[in-house]
Amino acid sequence: MREVYASLKLFIGGNIMKRITILTGAGMSAESGLSLFRGGNGLWNNYPVEQVATPEGFAANPSLVLEFYNKRRTELLQVEPNDGHRLVASLEEKYAVTVVTQNVDNLHERAGSTNVIHLHGELMKVCSSRNPNDPRCVRTLSSPDLEIKMGDLAADGSQLRPFIVWFGEAVPLMEDAIAAMQGIDAFVIIGTSLNVYPAAGLLHYAPAGVPIYLIDPNDVNATLPSNAIHIRKGASEGMNILINEYLDK
Ligand code: APR
Repeated sequence: MREVYASLKLFIGGNIMKRITILTGAGMSAESGLSLFRGGNGLWNNYPVEQVATPEGFAANPSLVLEFYNKRRTELLQVEPNDGHRLVASLEEKYAVTVVTQNVDNLHERAGSTNVIHLHGELMKVCSSRNPNDPRCVRTLSSPDLEIKMGDLAADGSQLRPFIVWFGEAVPLMEDAIAAMQGIDAFVIIGTSLNVYPAAGLLHYAPAGVPIYLIDPNDVNATLPSNAIHIRKGASEGMNILINEYLDK
C-alpha cells in the first residue's frame, strides 16, 4: 500500500516528483524540548535501558515501565513541533517524502508530515503484551486519558503495554523502511547518532550515487559515503540550509 501511495504522489499534477527519504532520530525533537538518548543528560543516563526498554524489564517490573512511558507521553503533549519538523513537512509540496523515524513522538505528524514510518513504535499508542503487533489490540491514547496502569487490559485480555519496539524485539516496519529507500533521489539523516540497528543500517540501502545529507551538530557513529554532505547544524537551521543551499539549487 505504501508503495502505491508513494507512486501515486509521483504523478499528481502530471509531473514527476522527486523522492526523498528522511531518517530521523532524537535530535530531530531536541529543539522541541524532548530528551536525547545518549550523551549529556540523555534518557539512558537517567533510566537504565534494560529496566525500561526491554521485554525482560517489563516482565520484571511492569509498573515501573508503564510509569516511564506515562511520564514521557504526558511530556509529549506539553511540547510542540519545531521549525525542523515543519520544514520537513513542507518538503511534501515539491517532493514525494517518506519520513522514517526512530522517534516515538508524534511531532512529525503534528507538523504536517503525512507519510511517517515509526520504526521504534509510537508513544501515543498501547498494545497487547501477549502479541504487541496484533492490530486488533493497538489503541491510540488521547488527552486526558494518557496513562495506562496495571489491570488495564487489551482486547485479547492481556495487560496493555506501550506500543514501543524494545531492545531485543523485532522491528516489523524495517521492510517498509527499506522499500522507502528504493529509487530515491536524495537521502537525508537528521538527529541520530546511528548507534542502533537495524535503523542505522538504512544508510547502506541508499542507491549508489544518490546525494546523502546529514544534519547533526556532532559526528555520528557511522562512516558516511564520500559523497555525503554533513551540515553541522541543529535540525531547524540545518533544514533551512538543506532546502536553500542544496535541494532548491
Ligand atoms: N538537531 C539535530 N541533531 C541533534 C540536535 C539538534 N538540535 N541535538 C543533538 N543532535 C544529535 C546528536 O548529536 C546525536 O547524533 O542527535 C543525535 C541523538 O542521538 P541519540 O541520543 O543516540 O538518539 P537516536 O540516534 O535517535 O537513538 C536511536 O536508540 O535507544 C534507542 O530507541 C532509541 O530510537 C532510539 C535509538
